[in-house]
Amino acid sequence: MAVSGRSSQKASSTFELVSKSVEDTQRLGEQLGSCLAAGDVVGLIGELGSGKTTFIQGLAKGLGIDPGLVRSPTFILMREYPGRVPLIHMDGYRLDDATSVSWLDVDWVFSPKKVTVIEWADRCAGALPEDHLELHFRYRTTNQRLMSAAGHGPRSRELAEAFKKAVGSQPAVEESSGDARPGD
Ligand SMILES: Nc1ncnc2c1ncn2[C@@H]1O[C@H](COP(=O)(O)OP(=O)(O)OP(=O)(O)O)[C@@H](O)[C@H]1O
Ligand SMILES: [Mg+2]
Repeated sequence: MAVSGRSSQKASSTFELVSKSVEDTQRLGEQLGSCLAAGDVVGLIGELGSGKTTFIQGLAKGLGIDPGLVRSPTFILMREYPGRVPLIHMDGYRLDDATSVSWLDVDWVFSPKKVTVIEWADRCAGALPEDHLELHFRYRTTNQRLMSAAGHGPRSRELAEAFKKAVGSQPAVEESSGDARPGD
C-alpha cells in the first residue's frame, strides 16, 4: 500500500508518505501539482533540508512549469512562475507571524487565479487562508524523508483526497511505519 491514513482533530484526510529518494519526492510533488487548481494554497513545514523545495520542483512540473527554475526564494521571499495555473512560491523562513500578516499583500499572494505554495508556513501561519493543505516534511535518513498531508477546509480536504488517490496508484512510495529518527 502506498499511503497510510490516520485521524486528526485538526483536519481530516491526514495521511503519511515515505520518500526514498529525491526523485520520489519530486514525483510526489508532481502528483500533487497535477491535482491543483487556481486558488489552492499549500503550506510546507519542515526543518532545513527536509525536502520542501525538492517537492515544489515536482509540484511545478505538475503545473506545466520547468522544475529547473524552482529554487528556495529565501532571500527574495517569493517568486512567480507562469504555468497551467500561475504558481506563487513563497519562503516564510525570514518571517515571523506578527510582521508577516501586516506586511504581506495577502490578496496578491493568495489570489483565486493562482496556486500558492509556502515554505516554512508555520512562520506565517496567521497569514494563511483557513482553507489550505498542510504538508509536513521530516528527515529520516540521508536519502529518506517522511511526509504527511492534512487538508484544512473543504477544498483542501478534497485536494488531500485527490492527492492520496494519485499517490496510491504509484508503487514507488511505501507506507510509513511509525516513528523514524535520523539514523534509523
Ligand atoms: N528523499 C529525499 N527527498 C528530498 N530531498 C532529499 C531526499 N534525499 C536526499 N535529499 C536531499 O535533501 C536536500 C533537500 O533540500 P531542499 O532544498 O529540498 O530542502 P528544504 O526543506 O527546501 O530546505 P530549506 O528549509 O533550507 O529551504 C537536498 O540536498 C536533496 O538532495
Ligand atoms: Mg527550501
